Amino acid sequence: MSNNTYSKLIEPSIKDARKRRKEEIKFSIFDINPKYLNFGVGKKYHLKTYGCQGNLSDSEKMAGILEALGFIATDIETEADFVLFNTCAIRENAEERVFGELGRFQKFLKQKPDMIIGICGCMPQEEKTVRRLKKSFPYVKVVFGTHNISSLPEYVYDAFNGQKVVEVLSIEGNIVENIPVKRDHPAKAWVDIMYGCDEFCTYCIVPYTRGKERSRKPESIIEEVEALAKAGYVEVTLLGQNVNAYGKDFTDREYGFANLLEDLNKTNIKRIRYTTSHPRDLDLATIKAMALGGNIMPNLHLPVQSGNNEVLKRMNRKYTKEEYMEKINLLKEYVPGISITTDIIVAFPGETEEQFQDTVELVKEVEFEGAFTFIYSPREGTPAANYENLLTEEQKHDRLNRLNDVVNAHSLKGQMRFENQVVEVLVEGPSKNNPELLCGYSEHNKLVNFTPKNAKVGDLVKVKIIKAYSWHLLGEEL
Ligand code: SAH
Ligand code: SF4
Ligand code: F3S
Repeated sequence: MSNNTYSKLIEPSIKDARKRRKEEIKFSIFDINPKYLNFGVGKKYHLKTYGCQGNLSDSEKMAGILEALGFIATDIETEADFVLFNTCAIRENAEERVFGELGRFQKFLKQKPDMIIGICGCMPQEEKTVRRLKKSFPYVKVVFGTHNISSLPEYVYDAFNGQKVVEVLSIEGNIVENIPVKRDHPAKAWVDIMYGCDEFCTYCIVPYTRGKERSRKPESIIEEVEALAKAGYVEVTLLGQNVNAYGKDFTDREYGFANLLEDLNKTNIKRIRYTTSHPRDLDLATIKAMALGGNIMPNLHLPVQSGNNEVLKRMNRKYTKEEYMEKINLLKEYVPGISITTDIIVAFPGETEEQFQDTVELVKEVEFEGAFTFIYSPREGTPAANYENLLTEEQKHDRLNRLNDVVNAHSLKGQMRFENQVVEVLVEGPSKNNPELLCGYSEHNKLVNFTPKNAKVGDLVKVKIIKAYSWHLLGEEL
């Protein structure tokens, strides 16, 4: 039944993905080969996205490409002619969920044998994923990674013509401009400013799945942001795995992330956020640019990972707890009232109870207003996967629970400071639990549910906060 002629067969290599050759970055402009135009007319696609904002942004581009070919989107899984999973490799449980989903979709193939199932994103960049796909999921017809989404027209064309495509490039990466984007949100947009990561934190798979750090030209970014403002978008989130390394790869100019913020501060977009920052690379110039205020929103996600210097060293984070605190204090000084959130990993190999307590203490000291907390998950090919002294399942969960209790207490405190205050909310739509209320996010990135007067989706409105809850603020439009 299943046809196994490959139109392409290139498998990933972690060894190649690790290399950083310092070659010039190739820029190109996206274009669809006329051979594929209208190929998707009459066909429906269903795109499922896992992982970080980088993947959400890539998915909007892939949706843009598919629609440029004539495909239309469907939410109904069984209606889809083409199903594509854009995946994340950051932790084991994220991956297992995808394999579970692939298994579930195998059943649909019985009723709809022509359905083409594909997988892309970070998981196929791992050798072990491609091994497992070949062994246990032979019905997955399209496999590609993060470096070649612009080849999607060719991949779907080949797959619909009975061929199998596996093309995972373990290269440093390039930059392709002008890919069509189908944005999910009417008022908020992702704007990639750079790709890849050169940090090589010892636990992390991203530098292997996304290639080296490479920046888009500021002119392209500013042009995109101005075009978004003109088209009615209110907020942009600048994206990169380590946005503070923006511009380090430019050979023709001295221009960094702070310069970009300064330039975007002068554009017509009403709100700017960015993620993710690396504490080592976050510099004073960037903190000063944040202090310009205006359209630069007063919130920052600054992953700390651990509050213990010995653990930070083994994670290869390249900063100490003291250096982290110094930057936090500067941020609080330059941007009064700033809301700071973070990421924390517990149960890193060999983490002692005392070292874990240092993390708890740090959370109290910084007063993070939110934190994503994770149990360490070994990733094949990364240095930490070979570290010894793993903790027991019980220890891992116990630490996560204890940490979450402290994090939650501080989040609530961070919410309470807005009671009786007036905040500005970008209206997203009806509130999840009460259709009579609208919801949206404040300048400090707090979810606000409120009783509307005239507000509609995409508006910026003033809301008086009546009560703070752990996960949202409740208010009334003024
Ligand atoms: N580039 C961003 C995001 C990386 S992934 C950054 O540097 O912060 C998001 C978070 O996942 C990380 O901040 C880290 O806390 C967590 N993470 C990464 N690898 C992990 C692993 N192997 N196990 C558990 N959590 C991990
Ligand atoms: Fe991973 Fe570290 Fe790069 Fe973030 S900075 S993506 S945690 S290697
Ligand atoms: Fe996941 Fe890849 Fe993002 S591993 S967190 S989707 S960069």
